[in-house]
Parts: sequence; structure tokens; C-alpha cells
Amino acid sequence: MNRDPRQDYLGGIVYPAFFHREQSPVWIAAVAAALGRAAPDPATARWCEIGCGQGYGAAVLAAANPGMRLTGIDIDPDHIKVARARAKAAGLENVDFICGDIRDPALNRGEYDYIVTHGVLSWVGETVRTAIGDFVAAHLSQNGIAAIHYMSEPGGAAFRAFHEVFKSVAHRPDPVAEGLQALTAMRDAGAGFFQLYPHAGQTLDNLLRDDPAYVAHEYLNPVFRPLSFREVAAAFSDRDLGWIGSATPIENIDAVSLPAAAAKVIVPIRETALRETMKDMARNQPLRYDLFARPAALLNNHEHLQRLRLWNWRLLPAAPPPGGLVFQTRIGPVDGDARIFRPLLTRLGQSPASFAEIERIEPFSGRPGLLNQA
Ligand SMILES: C[S@@+](CC[C@H](N)C(=O)[O-])C[C@H]1O[C@@H](n2cnc3c(N)ncnc32)[C@H](O)[C@@H]1O
Repeated sequence: MNRDPRQDYLGGIVYPAFFHREQSPVWIAAVAAALGRAAPDPATARWCEIGCGQGYGAAVLAAANPGMRLTGIDIDPDHIKVARARAKAAGLENVDFICGDIRDPALNRGEYDYIVTHGVLSWVGETVRTAIGDFVAAHLSQNGIAAIHYMSEPGGAAFRAFHEVFKSVAHRPDPVAEGLQALTAMRDAGAGFFQLYPHAGQTLDNLLRDDPAYVAHEYLNPVFRPLSFREVAAAFSDRDLGWIGSATPIENIDAVSLPAAAAKVIVPIRETALRETMKDMARNQPLRYDLFARPAALLNNHEHLQRLRLWNWRLLPAAPPPGGLVFQTRIGPVDGDARIFRPLLTRLGQSPASFAEIERIEPFSGRPGLLNQA
């Protein structure tokens, strides 16, 4: 493991390969359309990931979108080596990887329609966080969108306790195994911490199945700081980048992502920072995936509808059958109204369909807002 005091990020262990749907321009543009925002064309997008790890997400997007131009930046030469080798083996010519510190102003001079970062902001020190904000402000195109992932207050704060346990055994030969053992023993002993934070127990179950390299990056990294929405949004706002919504669509729909009693208190609040802070409290939100863009007028109703009608939808292989749809959300299971989802899933079960086509079936005819939310 890298203990170089000049670095504030763990080195020497290659982070596992992940694909995060929220980083895909198609995903981001679809969410933006739902929110009534224009977005750059995903098919020809210029895309950049800050802290791309071994570049698996970039490679998948490059292979699936030959018209896109992709750049991955990472400080760890071992990561960039793996990323370049994979791209070469796959014959990908539309993706480049840059090895360097995001704090280096000479690193990159490109302009990007989508800038994404996942698993970085909460694991780096203040200087890197500032540099990430500066990079987004300097390199995001006029209509571009940034997707920013971070561990959030208040739900993410519980994991500081995990960090303390792992860091206390960091000097041992196998700190990942020993940290997991210590936490499991505490959970099995009914420790008050696990009673107070049941979601920490669920995370522990996942960690026991996860790749040890993932656990090391998550919990043995020198820095771990869950951030509040207020401070992240303020940092982007200082750079003239406004919050446009969550990259996780359900979190943009109050009716299914807030407990009804909390929604009554929260929905009338007009100030974004207070409203989002209270939502995070209502959901005990452990992480956020926020979208930021330069100030721009929302599409008017007509433009919004025209944009929604451009989208085609299809079922994913693991889509649920038409009856009995249940959403697993941060506030627990939420039943999908069969009057809405049965016809939608039945129609998409026949073939992919455009928004405009689905709009013609009941209960959506004349109610595009209902279809948009569904
Ligand atoms: C947890 S990994 C996330 C990798 C990838 N984004 C993912 O989610 O699969 C965080 C990455 O940020 C990189 N990183 C940390 N500090 C950096 C810096 N100052 N400049 C560029 N990359 C950095 C690390 O090397 C590491 O690959």
C-alpha cells in the first residue's frame, strides 16, 4: 500500500472494474429530459471521467458508443496501465487515458459535454476537491452536464466508524480481513452501533462478499469525508454551476422517494439547499449522485414534451412482470401502482416503443407528466 505522505489517496492496489449507469451520457440526458432540461447529444458526446480507476466504465461506453470521444484521468499509473491495455485489446480508438493528478493544471485542455466522477470526492483532501471543482468549471462545455458522486450526510457519516476500525488494523498483514472480522464480531455481539444504524449492517454483509481491493480503497484510504449537499452545491455554485437534480431518477420524484409525512414538510420548501438537506435527513441518504450545469432556462412545456417524445424505451432483461411491481427505495419498498405500470410493462414487453407511442395508451393519453414519472 502506498504510504507516501505527499499523496492523499491509496496506491498499490488496483481498484476493481465497475460500470456505473449514472456516468453514461444516454442515462444523464434521459434524466435531464425528464427534468425539462436540454442536454448534449449522447451519440457524439465528448466525455471525461475524473479518477477513472482502471477505466472499465470508459471502455464499456467507448465500445457501445463509437461516435463518442472519451477521456479517463487517474493519478495511479497502475490503473492507467490496465485501462490502456484493455482499450488496446478491444481495439477502441475513441478513448484516451491520461495519467496524472487532477491538481496539475497542465494535465488536460479539452472541452467536454459530460464530466463524471465516482468514488473520488469523499476520498480525497480539500486541495483535490477544489481542483475537481475547478476542472469541471474550466472544461465543461456551455450546455454540458457534470455527474458528481459522493458519500453524503447524514447516512454516509455512519461509515466513519468502519474507517476507524479498518485504520486501527492497517498495520497488520491483512487489514481488510482483520477489519471485516472485527466488525462482524461486533455486529454478532449486538453492538449498539449496528442497532442504531441498520444500514451499516447491510453494508457489512455486502463487504463480506466484495473484492478485498474494493474494501481497501473504500476503508483504508487515508481520507474519508462524507459531504453535505449544501457544501457540494455551494462549491459548484461558486463556479457558476447550478444543481439540476439527481442522476438517480427516483430521487427526483418526491411521491415515491419521501415518506408521506416528511414530504408534507419538505415539498413546500423553496430553497434548494434546505430542501435537499431535509430530503437527505428523511432518507438517511448515505450517498448522492448530483447533476450540475451552467445556468440555463428550463424548457417550456412544449419544448419539454417534444424532447421527451424523442426518447425510445425498452425493457431490460431483468424487468419485472407486468403485475406486482415493487420499487426498492431508500425509504423501503414502494408499490408501483398497477393501473400505471401494468399497461406500461405490457406494452414494452411487446417491443421497444417511443414515448410518443406509449403516450397513446391508457392511462397516459393526455397525461404526459404521468408517463414521464413512470
Ligand atoms: C475509488 S476509485 C474510483 C474509480 C472509478 N471512478 C470507479 O468508480 O470505478 C478512485 C480513483 O480516484 C483516483 N484519484 C485519487 N486522487 C486523484 C487525483 N488527485 N487525481 C486523479 N485521480 C485521482 C484514484 O487513483 C482511484 O483510481
